[in-house]
Amino acid sequence: MLAIIGGSRLAQLPILQITHRQVVRTPYGDPSCALTFGRIGTQNVVFMARHGYGNSIAPHEINARANIWALHSVGVKRILAIGSVGGIRPDMQPGMLVVPDDMIDYTWGRAHTYYEGPDRPPVRVDFTRPYDEPLRQQIVAAASASGIAYHEGGVYAVTQGPRLETAAEVRRLQREGCDVVGMTGMPEAVLARELGVAYANVCLVANWAAGKGDCQQHIVFAEDALASGIAKVQQLLATLCGQP
Ligand code: HPA
Repeated sequence: MLAIIGGSRLAQLPILQITHRQVVRTPYGDPSCALTFGRIGTQNVVFMARHGYGNSIAPHEINARANIWALHSVGVKRILAIGSVGGIRPDMQPGMLVVPDDMIDYTWGRAHTYYEGPDRPPVRVDFTRPYDEPLRQQIVAAASASGIAYHEGGVYAVTQGPRLETAAEVRRLQREGCDVVGMTGMPEAVLARELGVAYANVCLVANWAAGKGDCQQHIVFAEDALASGIAKVQQLLATLCGQP
């Protein structure tokens, strides 16, 4: 089954035909929300709002271990995670979708592995390519088929938050090879990898990153571009799930 994790701008998924919800408990505590099951097109889908349905959980407070465990425990084999980001690269402007192919993790202090404690000796999970390539390719094919403007590839900088970055921090991220910056891509991706669940990200550019574009003095969220970006994400999901 496919899971969709929605970010702060996608705490509901209008195209999902809901069948039921399920509260799941995990050894790592409570997930962000009950899981919402339903159908999109021909596919059974489970949806989770990573910040909770009321958008009340900050990025650094998300219990990613519980979230990914809960999805795995109900039979999820693939996760498409959506998150809003700031655009660093000049062609990654607000409203654009980016399907990253790599990331740099700048987060700290988040519970980021299942391999801890006396009965779970450490495993050095391979993370050379942090996203599942077949799933990425399906996402890219769906974006192409739906005629959506998107970028294939890019490096996602995952920062700790909840504050936004300084302009100097963004310049450093750029020097280090990052193209977009967000706060939620990790540790989700590595936790999915540890459980053997395919995981890929779709980044929705919500604003220019600090010090870029029209965000020289402060961050401006580009609400119009964002609304069209959210519509694009739903179009992509519909195509991916075979909805005519
Ligand atoms: N920085 C970090 N996270 C974000 C941003 C940003 O500029 N925009 C949306 N999420």
